[in-house]
Amino acid sequence: MKITLDTVDSLQHATAALVIGIFEDAQDELCAACDAALGGCLARLAASREFSGKPATSRLLHTLGKMPAERVLLVGLGKHAEFDLERLRRAAGNAVQALRGARVASFSSVLHLSSPLPGALEAVITGALLGSYAFEWYKTKEKDERFNFEAMTLLLAQESDAEKARTRVEHAEILCQGVRLARDLVSQPGNVVTTGYLANTAREIAGRHGLACRVYEQDELEKLGLHALVAVGKGSAEPPRLIVLEYHGAGVKERPVVLVGKGVTFDSGGISLKPGAGMEEMKTDMAGSAAVLGTMSAAAGLKLPLNLVGIIPTAENMPDGNSFRPGDVLTSLSGTTIEITNTDAEGRLILCDALHFALQYKPVAMIDLATLTGACVVALGHEASGLMGNDQRLADALKRAGEQSGERLWQLPVWDEYGENMKSDIADLKNSGSRDAGATKAAWFLKQFVGTTRWAHLDIAGTAWCDKARPYCPKGATGVGVRLLIEYLQGR
Ligand code: BES
Ligand code: MN
Ligand code: ZN
Repeated sequence: MKITLDTVDSLQHATAALVIGIFEDAQDELCAACDAALGGCLARLAASREFSGKPATSRLLHTLGKMPAERVLLVGLGKHAEFDLERLRRAAGNAVQALRGARVASFSSVLHLSSPLPGALEAVITGALLGSYAFEWYKTKEKDERFNFEAMTLLLAQESDAEKARTRVEHAEILCQGVRLARDLVSQPGNVVTTGYLANTAREIAGRHGLACRVYEQDELEKLGLHALVAVGKGSAEPPRLIVLEYHGAGVKERPVVLVGKGVTFDSGGISLKPGAGMEEMKTDMAGSAAVLGTMSAAAGLKLPLNLVGIIPTAENMPDGNSFRPGDVLTSLSGTTIEITNTDAEGRLILCDALHFALQYKPVAMIDLATLTGACVVALGHEASGLMGNDQRLADALKRAGEQSGERLWQLPVWDEYGENMKSDIADLKNSGSRDAGATKAAWFLKQFVGTTRWAHLDIAGTAWCDKARPYCPKGATGVGVRLLIEYLQGR
């Protein structure tokens, strides 16, 4: 969807549809003017309670020549006192979904004028771009029936700074490209997105933005001693890999933020095989890596003034004669030995080696993202990602970024007591404990590999994929993490 800016008066502006935000309990000048132009239609709709501005509602009207705009789309913004950028993003998402339903491919919007908040323009673009996302790569039928948005024009107030607005548009477009990349990667099946595919995607991003990229192949991983990562990939025909992307936006002396993303391209559970029902969802077990790739690409596109390293341990967890097995003991990169009690607790194995590997970059902060535990889904459902770590300032900064971006986080403890259950009789650790506090125990396990580095762990098992459509996220891959991390990085 092409995005343009214009400073023409909205009531004089010709368009297939003009999108206007309506509060439940307040009327601004724009609504009043629109109501007057339409002969009191808005007031009538409110009086009859056909449309009163409640959140998640919209109403498409034909103007029948009363205005240069062919249609007006009213979008509910809710109560004035409850309004924030997330409401605005959702309103924009609802708007594009209503326009998709009416097959209106080009439209104009004054939604962002509903709010004096500084991020309003970006919120509307984000909601519109992400709300109009559809993953249709594998649909071969009825291609001409398919609908694609063409253009959105944002109408600016006369006195506004067009140059500044242009920058905001570009910023939002780059950010949404990062989210789209993450969604595309997660939407694609495990037979396409293999460890090699992730490596090639990283190389492409590096080529486009001038990043350094290095892919460690299985023989190197063995030589270096990342035996936990290698073990997880043993049962697959596709070898495990470690992908490293480096973005330098600050001086060489400045210590980087390191992002680590779980890249299990398919998680069958391995020898501790998962039940068949719903197993197809385990193609999403690389969502952490998708978030890291999307964030690296967006951070570079935005030229953020910092150094950033993205590390992706990737493997496919399959049952086979070569698979690692329950009872095996692995020596991880850090030297810590791990008894395997469940091959389905594979995420923490590939991450423990990647986290230890990351310490060589002397990170100022290290953040990992992983679809790590079903227990986190039980705890928080699909409304927030789990947040754990060893540094409260970092956790608080991430939480704030979560509130700002709408990708919420909820913190869980990582007390030492949880670790008692993770000690092995024959090795230093075992990789899975009892079911209780599963999300926290996984985090406790990871914590053993980060030393004194400031570290946060985001469990995105419940947020990487959604079974029901949301205003600016259709059913399926959410691309969670990209907007959150960029928000966090920008606030540093
Ligand atoms: N990839 C799964 C976690 C998961 C569950 C992601 C649901 C997305 C949705 C992970 O590798 C896993 O299997 N975890 C086990 C750990 C257990 C064996 C200790 C789990 O949560 O059951
Ligand atoms: Mn698993
Ligand atoms: Zn997994």
